[in-house]
Amino acid sequence: MGAGVFIPHDCSTGQCDTCRVRIYDGSVDDRGTRRGDTVLACQARVVSDAVIEFDSVPEPIKVSAILTGIKPLSSEILELSIGLQRSLPFLPGQYVKCSFAGFPYRDYSPTQRVDGTGAIDELIVHVRRLRDGVVSSRLGTGIRIGHKVTVHGPFGSAFHRMGEGRIVLVATGTGWAPVWAIARASRFRQPSREMVVIAGARAVEDLYMRDSLAWLADTGVRTAIATASGLSHQDGNAVMVGRVTDHVPVLNAADTVYAAGNPSMVAAIQALCQMAGATCHSDPFTASQAKPSIRRRLLSFLRREAADPASNPTAGPHT
Ligand code: FES
Repeated sequence: MGAGVFIPHDCSTGQCDTCRVRIYDGSVDDRGTRRGDTVLACQARVVSDAVIEFDSVPEPIKVSAILTGIKPLSSEILELSIGLQRSLPFLPGQYVKCSFAGFPYRDYSPTQRVDGTGAIDELIVHVRRLRDGVVSSRLGTGIRIGHKVTVHGPFGSAFHRMGEGRIVLVATGTGWAPVWAIARASRFRQPSREMVVIAGARAVEDLYMRDSLAWLADTGVRTAIATASGLSHQDGNAVMVGRVTDHVPVLNAADTVYAAGNPSMVAAIQALCQMAGATCHSDPFTASQAKPSIRRRLLSFLRREAADPASNPTAGPHT
């Protein structure tokens, strides 16, 4: 949009969702980016006088840092602690770009440890280790404690906002990182706001967020559930059978939904929100990769579901 107004942005190519703005009035050519009454400002064109709104967010900065901790949370998820040389303000749910010296940037969502702890001068992030991941496969070998890191951010529009109505949080894999940050912020800032939290993985042993779900339940969240798509029957340990999408409640226009994790799951949640008129916030994380449209991702999700109901890849962006 070219009205001389600075709007927070990152990729400028329609990939990262950082520049999503709300249209209150006027005509805007959304160029296929409309979600509810929002569009991506880096792609849309104003075709008449228009009234738009965007949230004020911390300005992105670059901060030098050191890797201070690597801890396995499950067979495939690692928790990294990154000590910052100065603070880097961000909103719960936003993401940052981290470059370990000698390695390319990767997007990670700062969060708290699964027990809720964290310090102002450190970032806690979750990384899914992939055997052929350029960065993740080197954690603990080519990238060790003491490795230099450059952190750039924050970015993203899927951050916690105060509001009315129910808040519904859905995550798979390392998508738990932003969702956990948002859930805690909401419990502290609006403890009486109704919340539903659904976290999923393929296998029970990859549900590394179960202690966090227990904390949410202790603070009064009545629906804070873990699901495993690889389970064929209820195993008696409070894990539900199926995909997270099997357990999303019937949505309504007053709901605010955050979804993070598997891109096909996120697309399915976005489609459910669109049908219900609910507000949906989700960041794609994979700013460096070309991504298919929501419709194509949704179609691929539905096709996979039809072909193999047991498959639920939890591939996260943080590799
Ligand atoms: S800056 Fe518009 S989508 Fe990334």
